[in-house]
Amino acid sequence: MAPTPTRDDKFSFGLWTIGYNGTDPFGGPTRNALDVVHVVEKLSELGAYGLTFHDDDLFAFGSTDAERQKQIDRLKQVLADTGVIIPMVTTNLFSAPVFKDGGFTSNDRQVRRFALRKVLRNLDLAAELGAKTFVMWGGREGAEYDAAKDVRQALERYREAVNLLGDYVTDKGYDLRFAIEPKPNEPRGDILLPTVGHALAFIDSLERPELVGLNPEVGHEQMAGLNFAAGIAQALYHDKLFHIDLNGQRGIKYDQDLVFGHGDLHNAFALVDLLENGGPDGGQAYTGPRHFDYKPSRTEDETGVWDSAAANMRTYLLLKERAAAFRADPEVQAALEAAKVFELAQPTLGAGESYDDLLADRSAYEDFDTSAYLGGKGFGFVRLQQLATEHLMGARG
Ligand code: GCO
Ligand code: MN
Ligand code: MN
Repeated sequence: MAPTPTRDDKFSFGLWTIGYNGTDPFGGPTRNALDVVHVVEKLSELGAYGLTFHDDDLFAFGSTDAERQKQIDRLKQVLADTGVIIPMVTTNLFSAPVFKDGGFTSNDRQVRRFALRKVLRNLDLAAELGAKTFVMWGGREGAEYDAAKDVRQALERYREAVNLLGDYVTDKGYDLRFAIEPKPNEPRGDILLPTVGHALAFIDSLERPELVGLNPEVGHEQMAGLNFAAGIAQALYHDKLFHIDLNGQRGIKYDQDLVFGHGDLHNAFALVDLLENGGPDGGQAYTGPRHFDYKPSRTEDETGVWDSAAANMRTYLLLKERAAAFRADPEVQAALEAAKVFELAQPTLGAGESYDDLLADRSAYEDFDTSAYLGGKGFGFVRLQQLATEHLMGARG
C-alpha cells in the first residue's frame, strides 16, 4: 500500500521546479509554461502543503508594478481557495544579464546596489505572504578565472549584504530567517560558499548569525563528492538546518535535479532516517518543510511533470516507512548495540574526571590490551549496513 501525502507531511515545491520547461544549454523548451494558479491547484490536489518561488518565477523580470501586483493577487486568491501556503521565498539574482557576474558580489558596485534593492523588495513580499524562510542561492556569485575575483573582498561584500538584510528584517519586525544554499559550481565555474561547511563558517562571521542558517541541497553536496546525510547531521548539530532542498543526483557531474531517491538511494534512506528518527527520543530531528527542488526531465510531457512531482513525495514517504521499520527491528537494535553506536553518546571522561585522573588510570593505558584489536573486536558495521539495505529493499518486516 503506497502512502498518500497529506498537508501534515509538509511537502513543498518550487514554482520553478514543476514549471521547468525543459530548456538546457543544448536545446530550448520541450514543454509550455505552466500558470501559477494551475500549479497551486495541482499541487494541492497531490497533497503538497506549500509553494515556493523566486520573484521572477511569479512575474517576469522587468514587470511593471501593475503586472507584478496582478500576479501577486492571482497567487493570493488561489492560496485562499486551496489552503496551500508559502513557506519560503527566494530572489532571482542569476538569470537577468545584469547579474552575469553575480548580485551581492558582482565586481560592479552598481549591480550590487541593484541586487540589494531587488532583495529588499522581495523580503517585503515574503513577509506579506507569511513566508518564514528566505533562501539565498548565490548561483552567479563566483568566477571562472582566479584573477577575475578577489575572493576575500567578495566574501566581505557577501557579508555586508547579509548583514544589511538582517538589519532590515529586524527593524521591520519580520518573522523571517535566512537560509544560504551552498553549491560548488554551475552556473559559475566556482561558486562562493560551495559546501555546507564553507557556509557554516561564513555564518559565524555575521553580525546576526542567529538569523542565518542553511538550505542544503542533496545534489549540490553530492556534486562535490560529499555525503549529504552527514552534512545534514552537522548542520543539525550546529542548529542551522533552516530549510532543505530534496532531489536526486548520480555522482560528480552537472546538477541533475532528479526526483528525490532517483540517485543515491542509500544516502536518501539515511537522510530520511535522520530527519524523521534522529531527534530527541527518536522523533523528528527537523520539523520544517520537506522541499523538493528537482526538475521534471525534458523528455516528459505535462502528465510526466505531475507524475514526477508525486514520485518525490511517494519516495519520501516510502523511505520514512522503511526507516521506521529499520529502527523497530530488534535485530537492528542488537546490531547497533554490538557496533557500539550508542556508546558514542557516552562522554570519554567520567563526570568530574580531570586529565590527572586520566593519567592515573592504568586501565586506560598501561593495562589496556590494544593487541585484542588485531583480529578481534570487530564492529560489525557491514552487517548493520546489510540490515539497512534489506529494509530499504523491503526484504524485511
Ligand atoms: C540550482 C539551485 C536553485 C535554488 C533556487 C532557490 O541549482 O539551480 O538549487 O534551484 O535552489 O534558486 O534559491
Ligand atoms: Mn540544484
Ligand atoms: Mn536548490
